[in-house]
Parts: sequence; structure tokens; C-alpha cells
Amino acid sequence: MQPHLLSLADLSYAEIINILDTASDLKEKRARGKTSSALKNRTLAMLFEKSSTRTRISFEVAMTELGGHAIYLSYRDIQLGRGESVADTARVMSRYVQAIMARVYKHETLIELEKNSTVPVINGLSDLEHPCQLLADLMTIREYKGKFKGLNFSWIGDGNNVCNSAMLACALTGMKMTVACPEGYEPNHDVTAKAKELGGMINIIHDPKRAAKNADILYTDVWVSMGDEEEYDRRLRDFKNYQINSKILELAKHDVMVLHCLPAHRGEEITAEVVEGPNSAVFDQAENRLHAQKALLLKLLS
Ligand code: CP
Ligand code: NVA
Repeated sequence: MQPHLLSLADLSYAEIINILDTASDLKEKRARGKTSSALKNRTLAMLFEKSSTRTRISFEVAMTELGGHAIYLSYRDIQLGRGESVADTARVMSRYVQAIMARVYKHETLIELEKNSTVPVINGLSDLEHPCQLLADLMTIREYKGKFKGLNFSWIGDGNNVCNSAMLACALTGMKMTVACPEGYEPNHDVTAKAKELGGMINIIHDPKRAAKNADILYTDVWVSMGDEEEYDRRLRDFKNYQINSKILELAKHDVMVLHCLPAHRGEEITAEVVEGPNSAVFDQAENRLHAQKALLLKLLS
């Protein structure tokens, strides 16, 4: 395994399954109140250029519950925000901590961190990918469906960072992926090519109804990602027909599971009825961030 996780494609199928097995085991042990000190005296630095609820809390709790420690670092509060280079920040942090998790605007910042760090670097979301999210999503899919191969995974909405990682996740696990997005909002070209190179069955279309038909999994995310705020009005207009609602759900399989990485904007990309409905797995999905990341930390730090 690579010492870093910048892209989901840094992991092989076998490594993903191994992480998911560990994650499920840790989840079951946590439910029984079993504790661990596997990462005693280990520290994770968590660098954030943008907001976070789930990523921040789940990584911090993961380190605490594994006997280690996590430090939250907003770029505004450290010298990075006053012009110290990413390279120097990485070199200095590597002298103190055993791993760095970073949420950044530009994916290049992660590459610069990786190049200059002597400890593992984990992508906590960039403009290009959100691999930790997809580890939790795969765990959730396996819990609900018991398999990956042959499932119809349909993405409705923006071809964004989460969608890019989802394409790689589908390619690595044998799920058929359909992306339905407005023209001009397709997923990243290079990631699409990479997913296809990995054997991915990826179909990018513009009709949400066609994507929903026979879906085992329906996934959406916000129409306006962090960093896209200036395009808010235009995006709301462009995406108005790409909502996951009860009509769309009717086209999917009766036992379709609905995923959303959260935060959700009820009434925009998804209706409140669907988020709260019987097909929604969004809160299990959010919980699984904790278990999947614990497994990842154990792998990278052991
Ligand atoms: N899904 C996710 O990454 O959520 P946060 O932005 O709250 O971390
Ligand atoms: N695509 C969203 C995901 C947030 C977890 C964003 O980048 O803002």
C-alpha cells in the first residue's frame, strides 16, 4: 500500500476490502464498548482550508478512540495563512506528527504536502477527490447490499469531487456507474479516464430519469460545492431538474439505497421526504466515516 491516500485509486481492490473488514470489526467492537490503544502516543495533524463537520469530528474521534491524539489546524491560525509555504509547513509538521490529514481547495496543495512530508498524507477533500468519503460509502453499501459487483450505482447532480471518487470506487469494486449531470458539469476528464482504465463501466448522460431507472444506489451531493459559491445562482438554475425526489425514487429498484455525503440542502439536490424516508442510508453513511477512517489510520500508521 502507498503510504499516502490522495486518491481512491491509490488503493487496490484487496486493500479496500481489507480496510472495510477492519472497519466493520472496529464498529462491532465499539458497539460492545471495547477500547483500543493501538495508536497510543501517535498524533494526527488535521489541516483545514475549508469548513467541515463530519471529516473533522470523525477523524478526531477516531484518533481519540484508538488511544492517539488529533490537532485541528485551521490554515488561518497557522503561519500557512500568513505566507509560509506548503512545503515548509509539511517539512515542519513531519517532525512532530505521525500523519497529516488535509482539506484543501486545490488538489495540487495535497501533492505539494505529499512531496515534502515524511509522514502519510490523507486527502480530507480537495477540489478533485474525497476518498475517505467513498471508503465510508463502500462500507455502507456492503452493509446494505452485501456485495458490490453488478450493482447499478447512479449519481444525479454535479460531477464534482465526490463524484470523481465515486467513479473510482465503482471501477475498483465492479459496480456500474451512471452519472447524470447538466451539460458542462461532467466529472473530471482525467479521473474518468483513470476509472475506465481500471475497468470501470462508466456512463455519463444528461437525463436524470434514465439514470434512476433500475438503480440500486442513488447518490447526490450539493449543487454548490465549497469554492463554487460565486456560481450559486447559475448552478441553482442549471441543476433544477436534477433533484432526488419521490418521483425519481419510483423509477429505481424498490430497495434502492439513497446516499448523500452531507451536508444536504433539502429542497435543492434532495427532498426532505427522501432524506428522512425508508430508502435513505445517509446517517449510517455519516457514522461509517468514523469506522472506515479508523481502519485507514491503523493501516497508514502501523
Ligand atoms: N461529507 C463530508 O465530508 O462532510 P464535512 O464537510 O462535514 O466534513
Ligand atoms: N462536494 C462538496 C462535498 C462536501 C463534503 C464540497 O466540495 O463542498
